[in-house]
Amino acid sequence: MSGHGDPIPMTSRPSGPLKGEANVPGDKSISHRSLILGAMAVGETRITGLLEGQDVLDTAKAMAAFGADVERLGEGEWRVHGVGVGGFAEPDQVIDCGNSGTGVRLIMGAAATSPIAVTYTGDASLNKRPMARVTDPLALFGTQTVGRSGGRLPMTLVGADEPVPVRYVVPVPSAQVKSAVLLAALNVPGETVVIEQEATRDHTERMLAGFGAEISTEVTDEGRVITLKGQPELKPQDIIVPRDPSSAAFPVCAALIVPGSDVLVPNIGLNPTRAGLYFTLQDMGADLTFENMREEGGEPVADLRARYSPDMKGIEVPPERAASMIDEYPILSCVAANATGQTVMRGVKELRVKESDRIDAMATGLRANGVEVEDGPDWWIVTGKGPGTVPGGGLCESHLDHRIAMSFLCLGMAAQKPVKVDDAGPIATSFPIFEPLMARLGAQIVRDNH
Ligand code: S3P
Repeated sequence: MSGHGDPIPMTSRPSGPLKGEANVPGDKSISHRSLILGAMAVGETRITGLLEGQDVLDTAKAMAAFGADVERLGEGEWRVHGVGVGGFAEPDQVIDCGNSGTGVRLIMGAAATSPIAVTYTGDASLNKRPMARVTDPLALFGTQTVGRSGGRLPMTLVGADEPVPVRYVVPVPSAQVKSAVLLAALNVPGETVVIEQEATRDHTERMLAGFGAEISTEVTDEGRVITLKGQPELKPQDIIVPRDPSSAAFPVCAALIVPGSDVLVPNIGLNPTRAGLYFTLQDMGADLTFENMREEGGEPVADLRARYSPDMKGIEVPPERAASMIDEYPILSCVAANATGQTVMRGVKELRVKESDRIDAMATGLRANGVEVEDGPDWWIVTGKGPGTVPGGGLCESHLDHRIAMSFLCLGMAAQKPVKVDDAGPIATSFPIFEPLMARLGAQIVRDNH
C-alpha cells in the first residue's frame, strides 16, 4: 500500500524531445465506480481496461470483503459477481482504502444504508483528510458514525436499519460527496434528491443509468438537481473503461514544454466534467488536437495529440472551470512556469484537502526550483518567464501525493537542471506504468540510490 513502503526518490533530468504514443491507464474514477456498482448489481459485470493502481486494487479488495466475488481475469480484465442492492455482508476486517479518498468516500456511501457496522482506515495521507463532508449527509439517512476528532479516519459507520430518503444540497463542489449520497440512496425506499451548485464529474450518474437505475438530472436555478429512485435491481454490465484524462495530463503537458515533442494519447476519456485542463491549455496557446471524437460505453472519447508549444501565455483560469480540472492544477502549474506571464488560479480551495495540500506542495517545490509563486487560501499565481527558463535543481517533497510527484518529474524534463522528488512511490496509486511509459517517450527519470 502506498505510504507504507520505503520512499522511492527519483530525479528527472532535462530530456530530448518526447515522441510516440502514450497508452495511459484506465480512468481511476470510472474504475472505482465499476467495481462498486458491479458489486451492487445482481449477476456478473465484466470490466475491461480497469486501472490496476493501488487505489483501485484497494477498492476491489473492499468489495470482496462485502461479499462480492471479484476476480482478475487478465491485464485490466476483471469480473465482479455482485450481491445486489442491500446485499452487502458485514466485513470481518477493517476496510483499508490506502491513499484513496474516492475509494473510502464512495464505499462509505454504498454501505451506509445497510444494517452493518464497518470500520474504515487509510494511509497517513488519507487519515488526515476530512470525512465529515460525507458522514454529515449520510447521517440524514440514519447512518451513525464514530471517528477521530475533526471527522478523520479511522472511523466506524453503522448503517441505517430503516433509511429514509433525503434531499441534500452538496455544500462543496465534490463528486465524491455527491456520489456517496447517490450510492447510499440506492438502498433507500423512495426518491433521494441531490443538488449540486457547480457541476462535478458525472460518472456515477452515467453509470447508474447504465446499470438500469431510474436517475434524472435537471438543470435549474438551484443547480443540477439529481433525482434517484431507490431500491432498483441493478443489472450487470460490460464496462470498457476509457483512459484517464487526469493521467494523460502528464505526458501531454510534458510534451508541451519539452522542445521538439510530439505525443499522441489514444482513447482518452473527454467527459466535459473532466476536460477543463485541455480547454485551459488551448486558451494558453498549446498545440493540442483532438482526433476521432467518439462515444464509448456512455463516455466521450478521443485521441489527443500534443506538440511542443513554445508560445504559451499565462492566463486567468476561469474559476467556474475548477471542478472540471481539479486534479490537473499541479501539472498545469508546471506548464505555467514555462509559459510567458502570470497564470492565475482562483476558486481552488478544494486543492488544500486532496491527497496533500496541493497549493502548498506545488508552491514550495516550484519555489525550490526557482519559480515565482504567490498563494492564498483559495488562489495561487505562477509567474512564467517563458519556455526553458525554469532553473530547476531543487528537491521537492511529494507528501504521499501521486500527482505532486508526477508533476515535479515532468517539470524536470524541461528545466535547466535536474529536479528531484523525495518519494515517487505514491505514483503507483494511479499510474503504475508512469516510469516505463515516460521512458519510452524519451524522458530521463532515474531512481536515486537511498
Ligand atoms: C473524484 C473526485 C474528485 C477528484 C478525485 C476523484 C471522483 O474529488 O479530486 O481525484 O472520482 O469522484 P472531490 O470529489 O473531493 O472533488
